[in-house]
Amino acid sequence: MSITILGIESSCDDTSAAIITDGVLRANLISSQDVHRQYGGVVPELASRAHQANIIPVVDGALKTAGIGIGEIDAVAFTQGPGLMGSLLVGVSFAKGLALANGLPMLAVNHLQGHVLSHFIRETHNAPLPQLPLLCLLVSGGHTQLIVVRSPHDMQLVGQTIDDAAGEAFDKCAKVMGLPYPGGPVIDRLAQEGNPKAFNFAKPAIAGLNYSFSGLKTSFLYTLRDQLRDNPNFIEDNKTNLCASLQATIIDILLRKLQRASEQYGVTNVAIAGGVSANSGLRQAVSQLGEKRGWNVYLPPLRYTTDNAAMIAIAGYYKHQRNEFAPLNIAPQARMEALL
Ligand code: KG4
Ligand code: ZN
Repeated sequence: MSITILGIESSCDDTSAAIITDGVLRANLISSQDVHRQYGGVVPELASRAHQANIIPVVDGALKTAGIGIGEIDAVAFTQGPGLMGSLLVGVSFAKGLALANGLPMLAVNHLQGHVLSHFIRETHNAPLPQLPLLCLLVSGGHTQLIVVRSPHDMQLVGQTIDDAAGEAFDKCAKVMGLPYPGGPVIDRLAQEGNPKAFNFAKPAIAGLNYSFSGLKTSFLYTLRDQLRDNPNFIEDNKTNLCASLQATIIDILLRKLQRASEQYGVTNVAIAGGVSANSGLRQAVSQLGEKRGWNVYLPPLRYTTDNAAMIAIAGYYKHQRNEFAPLNIAPQARMEALL
């Protein structure tokens, strides 16, 4: 029997809907919110209002793109968390209403698990799935995690940041340089023109497989403060070098623990996922390291790196296989510790 899942993502500032039939993607629409740009970060209240305005056209658009009606949907998958409470609430409430009105079961998806499972989205029936076990470095705006994936139903968190996420390091450092939000893609672009060895920033010494990025952020701020005393144009004069050095430091921190996790768990199928996995320097560095270490490296297509509903629909598809349906009283969760 063929199974068609409608996926809905609304955890932060992108409203997205996707349709997946038997693991194969048929539509993935994303409406990004520009309202936050002028504030230099996501404004939660504005985000939920924009989700409310966008959600019906986006879901409608996904159904139209797939060429189906709501009658052909077997279950509604939605992001339960983690994310902004008000944003999540719009998606969860909409999914409930839709499911109730059409007699459909619901599937509650952990957003982080969705990012990992973006590697399982197929665009054609015979596209290959990644080999298992898979070690995934998940780098998003709010999370930095190392996850061993034994199957789409079996994920083990083996390391994570104890303070800031890698994406936060990009975004916060970009903000103090006066760059627009989100900072990651802007730093990525500017870094390509700069010298990654121009500045030395602090690297953490954290035991095991955990990460830390707050020391790097502080060291970046101190460099700016000290240099701005002598040269008020320091940031403007050194923008590309600052970006290149910051990005190289973040990548170095990320890869050290990734390599250690691969050795510790004996896993050589290695993937990256989440918004920061769009970073061109990180993609190149992981590929190079993988070549050296004999890894099977999986880089997600850019369209599945940042928030999208295709990853929520595929995660829902795997939950559906196990009949892991959500009760009607399910509530959004701003924080979610467990992966399943
Ligand atoms: O996964 P995502 O879209 O949302 C969360 O779940 O948080 O990740 C957003 C993060 C932001 O911090 C953004 O700056 C970062 O991904 N990002 C990048 C790039 N594209 C997006 N960071 C570095 N380089 C990029 N090209
Ligand atoms: Zn995300």
